Parts: sequence; C-alpha cells; structure tokens
Amino acid sequence: MGDIRTFGVVGSGIIGAGWAARALAAGLDVLAYDPESGAEHRLRKKIDQIWPVLERTGLFPDASRDRLTFCDSLEEVAVGSQFIQESAPERIDLKVKLHSQIDAAASKDTIIASSTSGLLPTEFQAQCVHPGRVIVGHPFNPVYLLPLVEVLGGERTSAESLDAAVAFYQRIGMYPLRVRSEVPGFLSDRLQEALWREILHLVNDDVATPAELDAAIAYGPGLRWALWGACQIFHLAAQPGGMGQFLKHFDPALFPWTKLEPPQITEALAQKMHEGCETLAGDLSIDEMEQVRDDALIGIIESLQKRNLGAGKVFNDHQHRIRTAKEAKR
Ligand SMILES: NC(=O)c1ccc[n+]([C@@H]2O[C@H](COP(=O)([O-])OP(=O)(O)OC[C@H]3O[C@@H](n4cnc5c(N)ncnc54)[C@H](O)[C@@H]3O)[C@@H](O)[C@H]2O)c1
Repeated sequence: MGDIRTFGVVGSGIIGAGWAARALAAGLDVLAYDPESGAEHRLRKKIDQIWPVLERTGLFPDASRDRLTFCDSLEEVAVGSQFIQESAPERIDLKVKLHSQIDAAASKDTIIASSTSGLLPTEFQAQCVHPGRVIVGHPFNPVYLLPLVEVLGGERTSAESLDAAVAFYQRIGMYPLRVRSEVPGFLSDRLQEALWREILHLVNDDVATPAELDAAIAYGPGLRWALWGACQIFHLAAQPGGMGQFLKHFDPALFPWTKLEPPQITEALAQKMHEGCETLAGDLSIDEMEQVRDDALIGIIESLQKRNLGAGKVFNDHQHRIRTAKEAKR
C-alpha cells in the first residue's frame, strides 16, 4: 500500500460530501464522481457551507477547497485515487456493480472502501479481480465532525488492507473501530436500530410524540453517551458493586420493558413521525438545523477536549498532527 495523496469519492450525497470535506481538510487531493445532474454544484456548495466548521476544528497546512476535482466518469476517479470511498445509495445490486467497475479500473494497491450502513463486504467482493483491498468503512453523519468509522473486511480482504485503512482513517482525524466479525448492521447501527424500533413502537402506541422521545434522550442519556458508552455509564450507576450489582438490580428478564420486533410502518405511523419532526424543527430550514447541530457538536467536542476524553482525545491528537505538519512546513 503506497502513500495516499488522492482520495476518491464515488457518490457525493450527504455522506460522500462529508468524506470529501474531511479529506480536503486533511490536505488531500479529492476526485469525485456522481452521475446525478447538478451533483457538482451541490457538492461544491455543501463544502463551502462546511468549510468554516473545518476551519474551527483544524485544517492541515495544504488544505484547500481548490483541490477538489469533479470527474466525468467513475473510471477517472478509480485511476487517479489511492483510496476510494464508495457512498452510493444503499442497494446491493448497485454496490456490487460499482465495486466491480472500480476494481477493474483502479491500481491493485488502491483501497476500495464502502460507506454502507450494514451490507457485507464479502458481497461487494463477488465480482472483483482484486478482492483483497475491498473493505467497509462505515462513517456517521456528519462525516466531517464525527470521528467514528467502523472498519471491517470480507472473507477475501487482506490484513494488510485493513491495517492500511485503519492508519489512513486515523491520519484524517477519525477513530477507526475494527469490527471483528462480518455481521449485518455492524455494531453501532445495531444499537441504533434497537433504539429506533422502540421509538416507533412508542409513537405507534400513542405513548409519546417524537418531541417527547427526543427529549428523553437529549436531556439525559444522550449527554452521557458523548463521554462513554452504555456499559461504562451503567457500571457507574450501581455503587459500590458496579456492573455486577447493576445486572442484579436491572436484569432485563425482570424488567421486560421493551419489545424489539419492529412495528409495521403504516401511513398513520409515518405521518405521526413526520409531523412530530416537523414540529420539532419549527421555523428552521435543514441548512439552519445543520449549522445548529454542528455548532452544538463542536461545543460538546471542545468540552471533551479540555478533559482529553472520548471524541475529545481524537480531536486533540488530530490537532496535534496538524500543528506538527504546520511547524514542519515553516
Ligand atoms: N445518511 C446517513 O446518515 C448515512 C450514515 C452512514 C452511512 N450511510 C451510507 O452511505 C451511503 C450513501 O448514503 P447517503 O445518505 O449519502 O445517500 P444520498 O442519497 O445522499 O447520496 C447517494 C449519492 O449517490 C449518487 N449515486 C447514485 N447512483 C450512483 C452511481 N452509479 N455511481 C455513483 N454515485 C451514484 C446519488 O446521485 C447521490 O448523490 C449509503 O450506503 C448509506 O447507507 C449513510
């Protein structure tokens, strides 16, 4: 695996644009491809919107929006990049085809990563001549701020490719989490899915509105989750015995509170969910909500940085790398 100078973006929607912004901020050249009409304009506009956020969280010395090139073909991106991140719609047929096209055009040392939310890399390898470099790198929205990326390989992925991908993601300021088994939904989305099903049940059963359920997270457990995950938080919740004591008090078999089978998404449920979220948004447009979200996330991250905790440590380490790179340039 050689030096990665050019990052390829295949599919420049919400996630692809986030990857492009993160890579540009890390001082890389970016080649992007998206067949939808107007995609280049939307991508450049999105990056202009995001750039002030990146200036706040740290830019490598050579970072520039001018280093983005929008390509006319997938092959152009594949030939010119040393690391390609596929972020096309979540359809297995489309992703298998895209992987075989990228694999056919890219140098055999180029890593091909998919942003898939839960499909498996072994399936993406099916029609590849060089499957050893095919991995999943599952990010979280907004990709340019949230450090987590779940990294896993398929049956034919080489250990060398996984190591190279982990090192690359660290270099661009992320927290790569190696997922050791190839399981659908990986780790984080399985946890989110469990919560999401419960939310839909509570709305469907008219127990609570989307606003009440968001409050139940944002003012309590959500704040704690920014520091540690559920296990560490529950360990602190039962003292002096910690987790051992907690499991005796809160054995889920004694409190069968949840029902994890999903409810049917009826018209009525979809409407309740949508109207509930529109009420929450109030007068804010999507752009304005994204700005509020990014600003609040930076506030939380800065507070974690002061304590060198959780995601704050990832940002501290990355900003240290940026300072070192700037000093080396002087
Ligand atoms: N939205 C999220 O929160 C999120 C989070 C993590 C991972 N993901 C995953 O990231 C991927 C992209 O999701 P998104 O939310 O950005 O979707 P999106 O719909 O915003 O973007 C997908 C983009 O792919 C483009 N596209 C369609 N056909 C293509 C082709 N043949 N070649 C290249 N590009 C093509 C579309 O024009 C569109 O711009 C999906 O696999 C999704 O599961 C999404």
